[in-house]
Amino acid sequence: MPMRIDIISAIPELLRSPLSHSIMQRAQDKGLVEINIINLREYGLGPHRQIDDYQYGGGAGMVMMIEPLFKCIDALKAEREYEHIIYMTPDGDLLNQALSNRLSISGNIMILCGHYKGIDDRLREHVITMEVSIGEYVLSGGELAAAVLVDSVARLIPGVLNDSTSALFDSFQDDLIAPPVYTRPEEFNGWSVPKILLSGHDKNILDWRSEQSLERTMKRKNDLKGD
Ligand code: ADE
Repeated sequence: MPMRIDIISAIPELLRSPLSHSIMQRAQDKGLVEINIINLREYGLGPHRQIDDYQYGGGAGMVMMIEPLFKCIDALKAEREYEHIIYMTPDGDLLNQALSNRLSISGNIMILCGHYKGIDDRLREHVITMEVSIGEYVLSGGELAAAVLVDSVARLIPGVLNDSTSALFDSFQDDLIAPPVYTRPEEFNGWSVPKILLSGHDKNILDWRSEQSLERTMKRKNDLKGD
């Protein structure tokens, strides 16, 4: 059974395009992952399919109501088991490669995209099992963050990448930044490709790439220290 990723969203259109091209589409076509987007409105209350309301205690900004979200999550849970129910939020655990690796070999996951002031906190307390942030800034909603999470996870699912796109050589996979890459032409605007890459000497090229990788990693560490 392929891994199943269900994403609950009030604006499904925001998610469709990022997840239906290139490697994401190929992963689904190959049957290695099933990505399903659920429109939360379908679980909205009353004739207007309401999903948000004013917050108790007053204050600006609407809150996503517990009932539509709970009904939606319950309906999904009735169909299959989930290893994680993830809420995308700027105050969640910061996404990194280690977390993506872990999720790529997990069971099914459900992802909840927040909007407005967030979701009724009782869901966070009783239903959500993991909270993830993609960075220390605030987006208008969780959809773009969910797309980033799903992309970084799905490409790591065994069989999704072939040799030429192998994740083994990605930056961060072994805590190293990837080495620089070049393609034709050999010279452009007076800027030339490092000669060693044209030498045909596999061992030297491998060594050079390792050195470059280390250099870039050290430089980034020093740059970060300067922040
Ligand atoms: N929703 C709004 N901002 C977010 C962020 N930075 N990460 C995850 N979800 C979010």
